Formats: sequence, structure tokens, C-alpha cells
Amino acid sequence: MGSGGGQWIVEKRSSFRSEPLEVNVSETGCLSIVVLGASGDLAKKKTFPALFNLYRQGFLQSNEVHIFGYARTKISDDDLRNRIRSYLEKGSAKSEEVSEFLQLIKYVSGSYDTEEGFRMLDKEISLHEEFRNSTEGSSRRLFYLALPPSVYPVVCRMIKLCCMNKSHLGGWTRIVVEKPFGKDLDSAEKLSNQIGELFEEPQLYRIDHYLGKELVQNLLVLRFANRFFLPLWNRDNIDNVQIVFREDFGTEGRGGYFDEYGIIRDIIQNHLLQVLCLVAMEKPVSLKPEHIRDEKVKVLQSVMPIKDEEVVLGQYNGYRDDPTVPDHSNTPTFATVVLRIHNERWEGVPFILKAGKALNSRKAEIRIQFKDVPGDIFRCKNQGRNEFVIRLQPSEAMYMKLTVKQPGLEMSTVQSELDLSYGQRYQQVTIPEAYERLILDTIRGDQQHFVRRDELRAAWEIFTPLLHRIDDGEFKPLPYQPGSRGPAEADELLERAGYMKY
Ligand code: NDP
Ligand code: BG6
Repeated sequence: MGSGGGQWIVEKRSSFRSEPLEVNVSETGCLSIVVLGASGDLAKKKTFPALFNLYRQGFLQSNEVHIFGYARTKISDDDLRNRIRSYLEKGSAKSEEVSEFLQLIKYVSGSYDTEEGFRMLDKEISLHEEFRNSTEGSSRRLFYLALPPSVYPVVCRMIKLCCMNKSHLGGWTRIVVEKPFGKDLDSAEKLSNQIGELFEEPQLYRIDHYLGKELVQNLLVLRFANRFFLPLWNRDNIDNVQIVFREDFGTEGRGGYFDEYGIIRDIIQNHLLQVLCLVAMEKPVSLKPEHIRDEKVKVLQSVMPIKDEEVVLGQYNGYRDDPTVPDHSNTPTFATVVLRIHNERWEGVPFILKAGKALNSRKAEIRIQFKDVPGDIFRCKNQGRNEFVIRLQPSEAMYMKLTVKQPGLEMSTVQSELDLSYGQRYQQVTIPEAYERLILDTIRGDQQHFVRRDELRAAWEIFTPLLHRIDDGEFKPLPYQPGSRGPAEADELLERAGYMKY
């Protein structure tokens, strides 16, 4: 039962889950989760809290799971536990639960490029497995690389050499890698080759946390389980699509990392492009991860080369004041890029991807703007087009802007909304963090929400020429004020692309 608008609403549910890629592998028994880079920012802010939430909800059982932190920093188990405690003690978490969970964590210190530390890690994992195997036999090992990508190849080599699951116990070894996966097409391919020599594709989970967000996961259901979207979702009806990411803070402490990558590599080439795939792809044959990812690849391969006049770059004033950012940095902290998909469904429809740091609000949303109604007998054209908005965050919502008769005696029209705000409609549901779902998927062996190698390649193919020109200083970002909408030129581009603002 859910409550909405003061009424009780009965919901009919139907469960669906995609099928795992690896068949005949154990999904129960002893599970070791190894967080490499455990001393770092991502580990404490996202990885450990996600593991804790899975533990609280019963997805990680203390009688089968053990968590290992690994990094170079020389600290004790308790030091690590104390570092992450405050990130876990949030919301309704009870301090006893936090303490119980922290006891599952063991820390091993070692370097990333020598066998010694990894042998020690393997010994600790094996001890845990032997202890657990007194009741049940399996060796499931999940390695989460919360590390700078520069060390991925050597770390993968060490895992392969020293830490693989014990085949006589069954189970599996899986590797989760974070973005950025490469800096351009060549470096990404090189990285893929290096890791690909060591691990098979079904063992590799390239994480893009946007794929774990509730409303991103809803996209396929929305599009393919609702009759009324089917005939409308195409170039005959849709005028333009915007996929927007805004943050109301700057690079804050991550200036060094950010300056090497910039907003296109940080957000657009991965997060926004993944969302574009789900908005634009054809219906997959089934929900099997391979079928879904086949369709995503086709969309990416249909994207036309980006035109200079359909790009606006920006850099916020004050960005270079960060001591870790070079004085003459050319790195964009804002970009609007129009992508055009050359296929039967989307020819002529601009997909406008926009992302920026230090803007006037924090928001991520998809805006689908429909064409004008032909033969406008109400003369209501200037009141606004139909628009379907999917707000990924904050406050997840979907709403449809539509024209209705102004209630009352007057015969006039007004723009209104059909509004599905999750906070109101699903009051008793806590929406899980993206990382929780995705880590759970890695344990279950479900690769649907992870980026396949050919997807990654196609994504880099789209952006590499533009990125090289920015890196070479040929394409310069325009300055903008922190707290603004970004450069005014971006709004002009939006208008040129066909977006109508009312
Ligand atoms: P950190 O810079 O905090 O690095 C993580 C750990 O890696 C450090 O604690 C350090 O551990 C080790 N490390 C750092 N620099 C090097 C180096 N040059 N060579 C070898 N080891 C190094 O990174 P984050 O935790 O911020 O990010 C980890 C990964 O996740 C990166 O790929 C990042 O791009 C990605 N990511 C991060 C997000 C975030 O919010 N932080 C968001 C999305 C993705 P020690 O010295 O103890 O070994
Ligand atoms: C990360 C980027 O991938 O996503 C960050 O590296 C950005 O720069 C973050 O802040 C945004 O994630 P979210 O989930 O807060 O939108």
C-alpha cells in the first residue's frame, strides 16, 4: 500500500531481474569484499557506507562476509574503523549496528606494485575462507578498486598473481573499476587491453554510479512498459532532449584530479552519455545484460561527429585560485554539447548534454520537449510545449507539462503538470544510494548496469576529437560567474538547437 494525495492506493507489483552472465557460479557461501584504496575519499564516503547499508538490510550476512581494506598507508584495523565511523553513523543507523559492521573490517597495508602486500592479503582472505568453510564451501572474492586509474593495471596483475579465488572451493573473482577509465580513446583501449589480458569481461564491472540511480534504472520500464510512450518516443513527436547535470559547488579539494580531466571526462562522457543511451536506445530483445548493452552500443555508434558550433565550454571565475590548479588551466568546468543520432528514430533531434560545476543549483534531470501541436485552435502556443521531465536528483520526480483548460468559468488555457513526485507518492520507501545497488549487483553477478568494453570504446570515440582540441588549447572555455547559469552562450546554443523556454 502507498499513500498519495490523501488516498490509499493499491499497487500491483511484478518483479524482474536480469539473468547473471556467469552461469553455474556460486552465489552463496563465503564472501570476501576487498576495498583497495581503503584510505581514500571514495572508500570512506561511498564504498564503506554502501557496504554498511547492504549489511543493515541483510544483504551481507555476518556469517559469510568479511571486508578487507587495502592501501599503502600504515594504519591499524581500528584506525580505519575510526576514519569511516562518522560516515556510517547517519540517519537512522544505530551505533551498535555500526560497531558490529566495523568488526567485519580488517585492514592490510601494502604497496600496489609488489607481491608482498598482496600475498599477505591473500593469506588473510584465505584464513577467513577456511574459518567459514567449516560450515559452507566457496571462495567469492570481490575486489573494488577505489584507486587512481594509473594503478589499475599493476593492481589487477597482482590480484591475478596472488589473490584469485581458490578454485577447489569454487566461487569467483570479480573486479570493480571506477571511472575515469582512460583519458581518451587510445588510453582507454590500452587500459582495456592490459586488464583484458588478465580478466574476462564477465569478471569486470566498470562502474558508472549514474546507472545505479533510481530514476535512471526506471528509464527502461518507463519507456517499454507503458503503451502511451511507445508511439510518441521519436523524431515525429519529440523536438529536443536535454540531459542536464548541475552542481552548486566547485571542484572543492579535488582540483588536482579535476584539472587533468575536466567536465566532459568527469560527467558528460560517462554519466550523461549513459543516460542518453537509455533514453535513445531501441527495445532490447530481453532483459539480459548483453541484450541491453547491445542496444546501448548501437546508439553510441550512431552518434555523429560533434560540430564546433554545437559546443560551448566554460570555466568559472576563481577555479584557478585552487593551488592544485595551474594558473593557465584551459580545463572546462562547464560544457554544453549537442549530440546528433543518425538513425531512423532520432534523425534531426538534438540531444543536448549540459554539465557544470559552481552553478546556481544542484540538479540532474532529463527534459524531453515535444513539438508544437499542429493547427493550434486554442492559440496557446506561447504558453509552452508539452514537456516530460525526469528529475534524477534531488527529490526524484517525473512530471509532464501539459495544457489544460483553466478551471473556472472562463474558457482559457493554462500550462499545468501531471506530477509523480517520489517523496509524496512513495513515502515509506527509502530510495537506495546508487552505490548500494551496484555493489549488490556485483555480488549477484548482474552486469546490466555496468559499462561493457565496446560501450566504453564507442563513448570515447564520440568525445576524443573534441577533448584533444581542448587539451591542445585550440578550444577555449568562456569565463562564468560562480552561482550563475554558466556562460550566456550556452543558453543561446540551447535556443539554436530548438529548445523553447517559456
Ligand atoms: P584518492 O585520491 O582518495 O585515492 C584513493 C587511495 O589511493 C588513496 O587513499 C591512496 O592510498 C591511493 N593513492 C592515491 N594516489 C595514488 C597514486 N598516485 N599511486 C598509488 N596510489 C595512490 O581517490 P578517490 O578515493 O577520490 O577515488 C578513487 C577512484 O574513484 C578514482 O578512480 C576516482 O576517479 C574514482 N571516483 C571518485 C569519486 C569521489 O567522489 N571521490 C567519485 C567517482 C569516482 P594509499 O596512499 O594509502 O595507498
Ligand atoms: C562523480 C564526479 O563521478 O560524480 C564528481 O567525479 C561529481 O565530480 C559526482 O561531483 C556527482 O555525483 P552525484 O551522484 O552527486 O550526482
